[in-house]
Amino acid sequence: MKSTIIFLLLVPVCWAKPFQTGLFDFMLEDEASGVGPTDRIFELEPLGPVCPFRCQCHLRVVQCSDLGLESVPKDLPPDTTLLDLQNNKIAEIKDGDFKNLKDLHALILVNNKISKISPGAFSPLGKLERLYLSKNQLKELPVNMPKSLQELRAHENEITKLKPAVFNGLNQMIVIELGTNPLKSTGIDPGTFSGLKKLSYIRISDTNITSVPRGLPASLTELHLDGNKITKVEAASLKGLNSLTKLGLSFNSISAMDNGSLANTPRLRELHLDNNKLLKVPGGLAEHKYIQVVYLHNNNISNVGSNDFCPPGYNTKKASYSGVSLFSNPVRYWEIQPSTFRCVYERSAIQLGNYK
Ligand SMILES: *[C@@H]1O[C@H](CO)[C@@H](O)[C@H](O)[C@H]1NC(C)=O
Ligand SMILES: *[C@@H]1O[C@H](CO)[C@@H](O)[C@H](O)[C@H]1NC(C)=O
Ligand SMILES: *[C@@H]1O[C@H](CO)[C@@H](O)[C@H](O)[C@H]1NC(C)=O
Repeated sequence: MKSTIIFLLLVPVCWAKPFQTGLFDFMLEDEASGVGPTDRIFELEPLGPVCPFRCQCHLRVVQCSDLGLESVPKDLPPDTTLLDLQNNKIAEIKDGDFKNLKDLHALILVNNKISKISPGAFSPLGKLERLYLSKNQLKELPVNMPKSLQELRAHENEITKLKPAVFNGLNQMIVIELGTNPLKSTGIDPGTFSGLKKLSYIRISDTNITSVPRGLPASLTELHLDGNKITKVEAASLKGLNSLTKLGLSFNSISAMDNGSLANTPRLRELHLDNNKLLKVPGGLAEHKYIQVVYLHNNNISNVGSNDFCPPGYNTKKASYSGVSLFSNPVRYWEIQPSTFRCVYERSAIQLGNYK
């Protein structure tokens, strides 16, 4: 009778903390002899790893954000597909932290204090597609990232250089985000991205790079390099970018863009060059077939020629512009020939003055 009372007291404790059953397992087994209701308790026994303390687990998603964790929880459920560890205090990722997580597709480590990732830490993650490492203290990208990776986000770290081998074999990569890192151009080897045959989007904004990285893959559709220290756009760095549709170069110190730059990017639709030091409209816009948006405001353009934007005559093969900005330049707007925008069919597409 006495043992039955102890048993009844223990049951609610087990339910409140189903993951800490070790101690009670042993005691319940003692009770099992001859006591009917214990059969039901045994059905509640979890098999293998369970949801870590204070995390929430639902539909193979393990949610452990904002818990003040200083390390990756142990014994994560092996069928986890998404593991969210953002907004914690994890300082190091160790070998074995993700062991057994063969089905993991997404790993979110944003906003921790990670400065070290052991070389073998990601090796069990054979299906990992998304790795979010932004807002940490990494000095370099981890080596041995899973070959299945499609999206890497690592902005707001302390990365100064990219080891040339860091992307080797990552043939599935589609999106790379590396903004707000103390990167310099000398820290990016010319071949760093060239093997990534599916890479579509890259953003390296708000760093200290002084030139457009060389050897970008032909698959690229968006290249965002705003807020850097780029002084000149060289045609050679855009060579072969036949799929590029958006090029973001706002807020740099660009004073010149090579004539061949636009010819090297034949599918370009949007070119953002506002807030630079350009002295003239980039060459090649008039001949370009697809370009529709050209931001040139806040530059040092003092003269706009009547063939800078449109082909001679009324060639209708050119896509019409939908957004051209030229305000905040020293050019005198009344001196721009009206025919300069003869291939633009919507007046509102052109922003010339400051509307003062
Ligand atoms: C760029 O370099 C300057 C000095 O060289 C430094 O103060 C600044 O923090 C760097 N910016 C980034 C984003 O690394
Ligand atoms: C660029 O092209 C313009 C005409 O489109 C030409 O006047 C200029 O000399 C060229 N600049 C260079 C460096 O080739
Ligand atoms: C603008 O260009 C002129 C030369 O055309 C130069 O003297 C001046 O310093 C430039 N201004 C800025 C803000 O770069």
